[in-house]
Amino acid sequence: MDGLRVLFSAAEIAARVDALATEIARTLPADFVMVGLLKGACVFVADFARALDRAGSRPEIEFIRLSSYGSAKESSGAVQLLGDIPAGLAGRPVLLVDDIVDTGRSLVFAAAQLRQRDISNLWTCALLDKPQRREVEVTPDFVGFAIEDVFVVGYGIDYAEKYRHLPYIGVVE
Ligand code: IMP
Ligand code: MG
Repeated sequence: MDGLRVLFSAAEIAARVDALATEIARTLPADFVMVGLLKGACVFVADFARALDRAGSRPEIEFIRLSSYGSAKESSGAVQLLGDIPAGLAGRPVLLVDDIVDTGRSLVFAAAQLRQRDISNLWTCALLDKPQRREVEVTPDFVGFAIEDVFVVGYGIDYAEKYRHLPYIGVVE
């Protein structure tokens, strides 16, 4: 696609998702609840669920929707919950899954919301991590790929709602 440089091909993503699933299946109890952050994590969660099955986990799948980035490349900094936190999380081990950790605000906000639900344990996972961009201190427990400070799209990740459908992850140039 014009103006996009491939950063991770579909095959590279698939291999990394499988490896992450193996690591998580070894670490978490088999019956955890995977909570994805919409919309960005939708493609990752769908592939991840099937990779986790191959690795021996039996996750339930839930989603939380946070306020979006809007059409800008920079976050407004204010994160809001759109809709409800899924019911029935009390006492459960939870894996919070996002597409990218950038400033860290979304992950910290979502984790705080989940902790208020008396879950038994919380782990966090992000397919991509941009550690240089962090504004609040947070380190995901599981990371697919650490990347430089570049703006990426594809595999669920958008720029102004475009490019989520791409099977690969590209850098907008
Ligand atoms: P944070 O709250 O600043 O950590 O931002 C996390 C969210 O911002 C991610 O879940 C993405 O939805 C979005 N985001 C961060 N970096 C990028 C990017 O490079 N491309 C597209 N969306 C991004
Ligand atoms: Mg997101």
